[in-house]
Amino acid sequence: MKKILAAIFLLSAGFAQAADPLAPTGRWTGYSSGRAATPPMGWNSWNAFASAVDEDKVMGSARRIVDSGLARKGYHYINLDDGWAAKRRVADGHLMIRADKFPSAANKKTPTFKPYTDKLHAMGLKAGIYSDMGRNTCAQAWSATDEDLPKGSVAEREVGLHDFIEQDIDLYFREWGFDYIKVDGCGLRDFGPNSAKVKAGQARALDPIMDLGAISRTDVPGVQGLFRRVGAAIERSRPNGDFVYSLCIWGAANVRAWAKDVGNTSRTSDDIAPAWGRLLVNYDSAVHRALYAHPGSWNDPDMLYIGAGDFDADHLTEARSHFALWAMLNSPLLIGADLRKTPDALMDILGNADIIALDQDAAGNQATVAYDSSDLQILVKTLGNGDKAVAVFNRGSGAIDVNLQATQLRFRGDAPVEMTDLWTKKQVSFTKETQLRVAPRETAVFRAHGTRMLANGVYLSEQPGQVNPAVDGVTRPVADPAIFRTAAGWGGTRGAGDRPQYAGWGGARADSAPYGQTLQVARKTFAAGIGVLVNSRLEVRNGGHQRFTAQVGVDDSATDKANAVTFSANYWRNRIP
Ligand code: GLA
Repeated sequence: MKKILAAIFLLSAGFAQAADPLAPTGRWTGYSSGRAATPPMGWNSWNAFASAVDEDKVMGSARRIVDSGLARKGYHYINLDDGWAAKRRVADGHLMIRADKFPSAANKKTPTFKPYTDKLHAMGLKAGIYSDMGRNTCAQAWSATDEDLPKGSVAEREVGLHDFIEQDIDLYFREWGFDYIKVDGCGLRDFGPNSAKVKAGQARALDPIMDLGAISRTDVPGVQGLFRRVGAAIERSRPNGDFVYSLCIWGAANVRAWAKDVGNTSRTSDDIAPAWGRLLVNYDSAVHRALYAHPGSWNDPDMLYIGAGDFDADHLTEARSHFALWAMLNSPLLIGADLRKTPDALMDILGNADIIALDQDAAGNQATVAYDSSDLQILVKTLGNGDKAVAVFNRGSGAIDVNLQATQLRFRGDAPVEMTDLWTKKQVSFTKETQLRVAPRETAVFRAHGTRMLANGVYLSEQPGQVNPAVDGVTRPVADPAIFRTAAGWGGTRGAGDRPQYAGWGGARADSAPYGQTLQVARKTFAAGIGVLVNSRLEVRNGGHQRFTAQVGVDDSATDKANAVTFSANYWRNRIP
């Protein structure tokens, strides 16, 4: 008989009890539409080509994906990012393709991507497209030149979804045959009356409803409503459910808390750059968010930048770390390199089947942080067969000697642990603890087999993919600069720097209290458990377990202990899908 043991700790914040959202539903309410039971894998044009994308470049990478065997390993989606649109035809709102760049689209009076998606499908691949939730795209907001941007009148340049949601989605999915859409958000934030493009008469003003730097200036329900409408339109245009819906608003509008209910992947930070510091920022934006990812909906710290800058063939340690960390986070694995020119050493990293298997493990548990310090982190993820994946990540610039303990893996310290190094394939066996040295910026990654600490069960925090913080107690997002800081990758050192930006963090964490403290009730600390704010409701999907046991209490870190807290649990047999 298996059982689940959960330790749940509530922080009392003293808010009035809102009865309805806390009432149990007996259903799993996390997003499960589309085809993202495991994180999507493939390629995207943006990091390699920005808006200067064309059919040859895309097809060249698609061919290499097939010829190199990466497609067989799961890399299926070939995603066109910003830069494909010529304009919107004003008479009927139809979107026009840059047929000079996509010759296969050109043979018809109205260019169509159907021959292009047919070709990708015939290669055994899937096709992705890009749009923006506003009237204009991010390149239209930020590009230094006009060269690759839509041309024509202000109305013709409005290639974003905003006023054409149902029409455009139907065009993409039903008429053109795309299988994946990335929906960006610059149109909702960058075209206020004072924007340079608006002032220059190139774009119509759209009062920003989203502000990356200030949740107080963001209309969270408004943003969420638009993204839900797009999701509903996709389901109508693709009734067989063969789609991936990818949200790209970089953590703004409190999206980290609600994307798990709305789409298949959601960006947690601003754009990655081929620089180590930037990798850290993007990784940090997702690493404490394990409870906000589940099969069907994943945190997205952005595409892989393997192949450029700090992750090129002269920086294999950094490139390997990038890959291993993204796999531990259950991030989408979207290659961002021009694969026509990618050296074999990097292709080998992208093709490491043992590490891909961690990302694609059917249990869908994002890794949790077992050890955390400024320079070193140990991430652990529970795999479907009970093995653990372990990543020992050296963030810093000096080598670090590490004692890795069986208990950090929730394995017994008095029974042997067998581990395989997934880079070198070397086997290690140890009892209690083992020593290893990790070089600067290295990530050692292992698959480990041992004896569970809970003889016939798992802690809830070992299976975050089966826990949904349906209500996470954040009644009003508040700034907490200590927790999350995003930085624009292109800012240089001008101005005041990148101030801490906060747009809603959410309030549920695995193995820690919501604000990062050690779980502790009445001075007793707990290594395993879930930390949530008061007024939370967790849904737990139960993979065949017989018993649920919980120890609950108010964490010592709670700031307001005067109010009473009620804990309740409901159980539905065979009713949760
Ligand atoms: C935003 C997104 C990027 C990319 C560009 C395209 O910056 O975050 O991933 O799609 O827009 O303009």
